[in-house]
Amino acid sequence: MQKIRTYIFDLDGVIVDTAKYHFQAWKKSAEELGIEFTKDSNELLKGVSRIRSLEIILELGNKKISDAEFDRILNEKNKNYLSYIEKMDASEILPGVLDALKWIKNEGGKIVLGSASKNAKPILEKVGLMEYFDAIVDGNDVSKVKPDPEVFLLGAERTNSKPEECLVFEDAIAGIQAANNAGMLSIGIGEKEVLKEADYVFADFTQISKEFLEKLENN
Ligand code: BG6
Ligand code: MG
Repeated sequence: MQKIRTYIFDLDGVIVDTAKYHFQAWKKSAEELGIEFTKDSNELLKGVSRIRSLEIILELGNKKISDAEFDRILNEKNKNYLSYIEKMDASEILPGVLDALKWIKNEGGKIVLGSASKNAKPILEKVGLMEYFDAIVDGNDVSKVKPDPEVFLLGAERTNSKPEECLVFEDAIAGIQAANNAGMLSIGIGEKEVLKEADYVFADFTQISKEFLEKLENN
């Protein structure tokens, strides 16, 4: 195995817990459509693009709508989501993330964002983490969604890194598959039973020791 030099972070569910805001906003849209939307259904939307999320909700409710209505709901959902984002600050950075970012910077590693979200930059600005990132690849840069590896391969390219020098932190099954498809080391953040395909899984960043990261770095 190559030494790890580049650390790619997913955003939602890895750096910040925005899943709860996506849930609230989608629940409102689903209710308007007369479709029941539970926390379990919300799991299906993790790591998935905005368009695909609405398609999944419509599939759950066995409902068809016009293209114009589809676009209207997408816009409204995002407006609601942004109203939650507006109030975010550094207190919403998930435990251990800041320490990990500081450790990587101190070691001279490269830090990349690899997210499906089109709202990634305003969120990083709100929580004050923008300065840590050497490259940002988000939903505005890619045409293929995770588990396609495009988002992570672009992150590697923008930092002149080889895929085998990259490590990906991900909380979504589709994201772990994307990292594996990119030929990168995949680190799941969440439950082992869910993120079975990851190379390693940790409950959160407080569980990732410096010794573990040093081992990957000095391999
Ligand atoms: C992913 C989230 O990071 O971004 C998904 O896990 C979300 O739940 C997707 O749908 C797209 O986000 P946005 O902010 O562009 O609607
Ligand atoms: Mg995620």
